[in-house]
Amino acid sequence: MRTMKELFDLSGQVAIVTGGGYGLGYQLAHALGEAGANLVIAARKLDKCKASAEILEKELGVKVLPARLDLTQPAEIDALFERVQKEFGKVDILLGCRTPQDMLFGDEVAGWEKRLDVNFSCTVDRGGPDWTGNVGLITTLIPGVTIIPERTFSVVVGPPVMYKFVINELLKKDLPERQIILSLERHMKCGMGKCGHCQIDHPKNYYCCKDGPTFSYDEVKEAKKL
Ligand code: FES
Repeated sequence: MRTMKELFDLSGQVAIVTGGGYGLGYQLAHALGEAGANLVIAARKLDKCKASAEILEKELGVKVLPARLDLTQPAEIDALFERVQKEFGKVDILLGCRTPQDMLFGDEVAGWEKRLDVNFSCTVDRGGPDWTGNVGLITTLIPGVTIIPERTFSVVVGPPVMYKFVINELLKKDLPERQIILSLERHMKCGMGKCGHCQIDHPKNYYCCKDGPTFSYDEVKEAKKL
């Protein structure tokens, strides 16, 4: 007989189960954990949640966060979501392209849209009659992303012309410069440190092929041009 995990794989997902410390809530948390989900079990009785979390972690091998929660208190709900984000984190993928027809990675996009641990947003410069999504530059999506400066890294890939604008938006959200990772692969030709095409106009004369191709923004911010 196939296991719960084979039938219904939730590996990498996070499930918040209110009342998950005991009774039916515990049974539900157990089933979700059995399917591979990391768990947040929240209830007013924190001691019971802690005891149950210990059992679930040992038995199922998933991460379980016990939390006190009174559902009649909106501030406690907000605080719990913030804590869950800090503990488990999320991946935000922002994709921008000129038109819907120019969109690459069709299969990957379809997969990202279904995942609960990925916030996927897409925008196009020009939509057309059938397009119902966002229209605008990639920078228009950044204000909607939650950035926790002490634990967020941003990886920026695309035509260097957009880097300056994306970096500005990320800095506005207090993301440290060393946590903004830039891919400068477009500069490469020979890939062996011979042709000099990938050299960055920077006091340290970086070569993308030898020293990169990824750099943090604080490493290359003195470059005349990225
Ligand atoms: S790609 Fe030629 S030197 Fe780096």
